[in-house]
Amino acid sequence: MTGSYWHPFADMAAVVAMGELVLERGDGCSVWDVDGKRYLDATASLWYCNVGWGRAEIGDAVAAQMATLPTYSNFGDIVLPVTLELAERVAGLAPVPGSKVFLTSGGSDSIDTATKMARRYWQLLDEPDRTILIRREKAYHGMHTAGTSLAGIPANAAGHGALIQDVIEVPWDDPDALRAAIDDIGPERVAAFFCEPVIGAGGVFPPPEGYLEAARAVCRDTGALFVADEVITGFGRCGDWFASTRFDLEPDIVTCAKGITSGYLPLGAVLAAPRVAEPFWAEGAGMWRHGYTYSGHAAVAAAALVNIDILEREELPMRAKAMEGSLLDALKQLTDHDLVEGVRGGVGLLAAVQLREDLVEADPAVGARVGAATREAGVLVRPLVGGALAVSPPLTIDDSEIHEAVDGIRAGLDAVA
Ligand SMILES: Cc1ncc(COP(=O)(O)O)c(C=O)c1O
Repeated sequence: MTGSYWHPFADMAAVVAMGELVLERGDGCSVWDVDGKRYLDATASLWYCNVGWGRAEIGDAVAAQMATLPTYSNFGDIVLPVTLELAERVAGLAPVPGSKVFLTSGGSDSIDTATKMARRYWQLLDEPDRTILIRREKAYHGMHTAGTSLAGIPANAAGHGALIQDVIEVPWDDPDALRAAIDDIGPERVAAFFCEPVIGAGGVFPPPEGYLEAARAVCRDTGALFVADEVITGFGRCGDWFASTRFDLEPDIVTCAKGITSGYLPLGAVLAAPRVAEPFWAEGAGMWRHGYTYSGHAAVAAAALVNIDILEREELPMRAKAMEGSLLDALKQLTDHDLVEGVRGGVGLLAAVQLREDLVEADPAVGARVGAATREAGVLVRPLVGGALAVSPPLTIDDSEIHEAVDGIRAGLDAVA
């Protein structure tokens, strides 16, 4: 190896000192490193491999598209059939019927697109003062400049100077505080409220009972667009095709990525409800000067279509719902461990083991150390801010693999205790 690769979200000095984990193969919920060691993938990589590894049929479809015409720019009026098919398929699953589908290259692109779509929507409606974007504490919306500006995890925004202006933060769990913030600043100035139905990278926080519905109602009352960031929760992870469907949110805009291809190729999408899309599509609206070179990439669309086929055929969103209790109950066994404060989860296959607050305060790296020891024990989990270990396996996981994950985490905890 040459030592040239600069890892994302990494302390490169530590990576150089400790070495890299170099993976080469995957099957189901397992991955293997170049030395042949097997790991249980308890996080579906970065919350995305919903169908599990080793799905050759996705590769076959991509190869066929590659051999025909890999893609072509979709700017203006050009498109390939597979992209049109994907848009129809995704629109058919969208939480709001009649939604239009804007394709991107990933979650951060989708968030960037959603912020611009929201602000431009209000311009088209002749309400140009509606520019303010609202984020929640603990929020993660990707790392483009828009997403960084919407970061409710302070460390993720720090150190880059001024980002997007006109962003305010509200508590993550209080719809009354959202209403008060909008009233305070003036509803006529608010463009959109960004909301992860289940907070992910901020520590895995399922919504308090009634929170999402109440926050949705606040947006309805004040006119603010409700943007459901379903980059993690979409395409099955939350026990339905979208968390917005599960919680009956009828969002104005949905951002997605990850599970749309299960990460076999990079793709994101923004689903605009008819209310939002109409002024853009209206005669005389003119060109929206926004889009990406790889928007609508045909080989990626081919991967997404087969991935959605698998999710549908194997009823994986329903499976995630059926398994959510087993995952939570199994992880709760770890609450008897001295290092563990509690376990969060229960909305789909998305959970976190929370380490004790006093330990995290005394040593903020304790979560990373437990994560590393758990990996040593053959299970991949993801340490998050605040000493939480994320567990978000492929939706194909079975009971014995869930128990393997719990055993691995326990071994990791024991090693650090
Ligand atoms: C809720 C949420 N939004 C946006 C993003 C950004 O997605 P990407 O990393 O694909 O750009 C993520 C990534 O984890 C996410 O969890």
